[in-house]
Amino acid sequence: MSEQLSSEQTESIYFNPWDESFRANPYPHYKPLLVGPPRILDMGYKFALAARYADARAVLMDPATFSSVQPKGMGFDEQAMLLGDAPTVLGSDPPVHTRLRRLVSRDFTPRRISQLEPRIRAIASGLIEAAARKGEFDVMRDLANPLPVMVIAELLGVPPERYEQFKHWSDKVIESDNTPPGMPMPEEVKRAAAELNEFFASEIERRRKNPGVDLVSALVAHHEADAETLSAGELLAFAVLLLLAGNETTTNLIGNGMLALGRHPAAMVALRSNPAGLKPAIEEMLRYDGPVQATFRTTTRECEVGGTRLDAGVGVFVIVAAADRDPAQFPEPERFDITRTPNDHLAFGEGIHFCIGAPLARLEASIAFETALKRFPNLKLKNPDAPLVYKGSYFLRGLSSLAMAT
Ligand code: HEM
Repeated sequence: MSEQLSSEQTESIYFNPWDESFRANPYPHYKPLLVGPPRILDMGYKFALAARYADARAVLMDPATFSSVQPKGMGFDEQAMLLGDAPTVLGSDPPVHTRLRRLVSRDFTPRRISQLEPRIRAIASGLIEAAARKGEFDVMRDLANPLPVMVIAELLGVPPERYEQFKHWSDKVIESDNTPPGMPMPEEVKRAAAELNEFFASEIERRRKNPGVDLVSALVAHHEADAETLSAGELLAFAVLLLLAGNETTTNLIGNGMLALGRHPAAMVALRSNPAGLKPAIEEMLRYDGPVQATFRTTTRECEVGGTRLDAGVGVFVIVAAADRDPAQFPEPERFDITRTPNDHLAFGEGIHFCIGAPLARLEASIAFETALKRFPNLKLKNPDAPLVYKGSYFLRGLSSLAMAT
């Protein structure tokens, strides 16, 4: 691997997803990465950092050169095997990716998703009313954690009353991000992953005997019609991925977004009187403090990104949250501006792996904010100066709790 930077420039950066203080606020650390070509980081393994908007986008748009298949021998092997070794839509390249994505793409179109609106509204209202009765409102505990997991559980056809169990499994599996490359995975993480797999294996069996109108039943039907289109292992991995991807990300959009609104009370007031403003506001929440900070690729050949030459087989962190604060793309990127247009952020990725669940996440977030702002006319942060506690994962950025005054 070669690079064009002097060692002085390389020393001035700090990027360590496994350091708690870095995770608490990675944004200042992104600024030096937005100047100059992608840097190379040596953490025992060498990784490139694609942070500038143009560089991150170029990587995402070129799946032939930048593979999504989980790399072997880069310190992530144990993590990659947690949920089995079958390919997933997220961790595959064409033609496997094309085959898998086609199976669910129709289920997630904005039109199909809009049919869920009444049900999402009912769940959100129920949660907000329960918080109002209690007389206290923690956004994470009372809304952002339960809403997405209840919605995705319903979509997948698994009982929503088990959402706490799902949440536990999903939190534990996501905690695997906290294990630095090459370090052993904690036993409790492995146990949660095994339980989650077992649970879905039995759900799949149940659907074989008694199909419903849910997504897992649809995937089972694909498998039974043609195991070449979807093998048994792929079917299980798909169901698990949908639960994980559809849950923590949307939770953190609601949490990170509410924090941004709490810190910008004028924006909160403006949205209360104009709910139509929520659409661009949610795009700004995604750009400003995105739930997914970075994704990962591996080079398939010798190549060049933004002036840095990379050998084949090099890991690349595509830091979409840094790209979304690149002044070359967004004027005044540090400013939270709920009317920002254009706002072509990369929070949902770009190219062939662009988030399947984006229409669902947008709908859930807009219903969550609309319902909360309407029910609590004086909503604000309860303790604006209290230190914030973030959950473990750098890649999926989100708060443990966020108390609001109503
Ligand atoms: C605010 C919420 C969400 C954010 C920020 C988000 C972000 C992302 C990003 C950045 C990617 C691309 C990853 C890559 O290129 O490596 C992605 C892919 C994906 N997301 Fe989401 N996501 C969200 C919600 C959801 C929901 C609700 C679902 C499912 C119900 C979902 C399912 C998926 C799937 C299946 C993929 C893989 C697509 C592919 O590889 O073709 N996501 N998401």
